[in-house]
Amino acid sequence: MSKETGSNEYIQSMFRLDDDIAIVTGGAGVLPYAMATTLARAGARVALWGRGTNHPVDEAAKQLARELSLPEERVTGITVDTAHEEETAAALAETRKKLGMPTILVNGVGGNRGKSDFVDIDVRTFEEVVTMNLLAGLVIPLKACAREWIAAGQHASVINLASMTSYKPLSGVWAYNAAKSAVMNLTEGAAREFAAHGIRVNGIAPGFFVGHQNKALLIAKEETGELTPRGQAIIDHTPFGRFGVPRDMEGATLFLAAREASGFITGVTIPVDGGYLVHNI
Ligand SMILES: NC(=O)c1ccc[n+]([C@@H]2O[C@H](COP(=O)([O-])OP(=O)(O)OC[C@H]3O[C@@H](n4cnc5c(N)ncnc54)[C@H](O)[C@@H]3O)[C@@H](O)[C@H]2O)c1
Repeated sequence: MSKETGSNEYIQSMFRLDDDIAIVTGGAGVLPYAMATTLARAGARVALWGRGTNHPVDEAAKQLARELSLPEERVTGITVDTAHEEETAAALAETRKKLGMPTILVNGVGGNRGKSDFVDIDVRTFEEVVTMNLLAGLVIPLKACAREWIAAGQHASVINLASMTSYKPLSGVWAYNAAKSAVMNLTEGAAREFAAHGIRVNGIAPGFFVGHQNKALLIAKEETGELTPRGQAIIDHTPFGRFGVPRDMEGATLFLAAREASGFITGVTIPVDGGYLVHNI
């Protein structure tokens, strides 16, 4: 049969990731875990990378394998602080040993902390947030992987996590604004530099999802679902009238990861935001 319309075979040829190996940093986090689930469901072997602190990645990896009924060797958890180059290099070596050469990197590490007037910026917190979102969240893992991809002549797809703050600053979160606008800038710059090596670098800019890192900023009382004034302002500004749920991340993740589907696309950031960016009065 040729040129089937709407057949599973066609969809599979576009989106199957059976030959792919994905690293998902921050893999026990809410959005990265959802992205890892999508990649695993499409056939990729997945390494969840993350710090072993609040949400250990080896437990998350076991949970993912259990949820998808996958053999444990298809999903692995690797404890690493991606703010450290040596640890990151070791995590990459371990990933290669356990799963093979990665072909997909999801830079899921990131988070928002510290809200203040500009004149009250706490410089240490500012540095930590920039380090988390820019160095740990993009530069260090991408540098480690790209060196090996270039040396091996390996094509790859990178997905960075931008934010609504990449487009317009949110009030009071100065470091997060600075880091996330830089994430979009670096996505473009890296896409340009790595294109000649077959390495695509794109981003997803989530609207507002409730993650571990921002729950306190958005939800006042978990039992009742009562929002903070900031949480309510966000809902009022989101044409779909709700926060995102992890499932909302799946389609854009699969599209950007799948070479057959997006192989000529690099340097773009896709908003997944319920219309937040097109809100008007
Ligand atoms: N939740 C949202 O509404 C939202 C919106 C826009 C962008 N984002 C971005 O999406 C990404 C994921 O957000 P989330 O809400 O799922 O957050 P999350 O806190 O649930 O997940 C982030 C994970 O990264 C891990 N991590 C942090 N620093 C690390 C380091 N140095 N090394 C290894 N692991 C580290 C944390 O332990 C956590 O498991 C972040 O980059 C965030 O900025 C989230």
